[in-house]
Amino acid sequence: MSKKDFFSAFLKQTKNIGAIAPSSRFLVKKMLDPIDFKTVKCIVEFGPGTGSITHELLNLMPKDSVLLAFEINADFCEILNEIKDPRLKIISDTAENIELYLKENNIERVDYIVSSLPFAMIPNGIVKNILAVVKKVLKPAGMFMQYQYSLNAYKKLKGTFKNVEISFTPINIPPAFVFVCND
Ligand SMILES: C[S@@+](CC[C@H](N)C(=O)[O-])C[C@H]1O[C@@H](n2cnc3c(N)ncnc32)[C@H](O)[C@@H]1O
Repeated sequence: MSKKDFFSAFLKQTKNIGAIAPSSRFLVKKMLDPIDFKTVKCIVEFGPGTGSITHELLNLMPKDSVLLAFEINADFCEILNEIKDPRLKIISDTAENIELYLKENNIERVDYIVSSLPFAMIPNGIVKNILAVVKKVLKPAGMFMQYQYSLNAYKKLKGTFKNVEISFTPINIPPAFVFVCND
């Protein structure tokens, strides 16, 4: 999908998409840098959109690993379903329901969760539920990566995780903060 098509999808569903363009490669790199790909068994992606992070994850993940990607936008799911990779499972349901799909796929715990969810647009109660379930399904040494366009999510993340590291990527539309959370 081109930047123009992404923007059209944004105009249709401003609230759920929360961005006017796909993530830049600089932002994608910053989101994935903390991952130790050698040891990965299962990664979950929240809000893959048109797949800018998904493609890079698949480039770097081991052959015997699994990527579960939760996306609620039907047009984006259609695009993602064109990716023919046996490691990838596109789940057209909200991130909130992650436990259901882990069970269905016989996965107990997850190594990393990479999220582009627009927390600023999602009701507080739902963000709280998502973070609680993220914490529950991550392995003890697991990590949660989230980008946002403001620092507003910091308090919620800090209420869930012991460590929250923040970095900034100016080369993205709009510029973004990356939060890397664990423990
Ligand atoms: C900012 S876009 C990110 C797209 C892509 N990951 C990128 O970085 O270019 C956010 C995505 O989250 C999806 N989304 C919003 N709420 C969601 C939810 N509760 N569960 C799963 N996906 C959701 C939207 O449909 C949208 O595709």
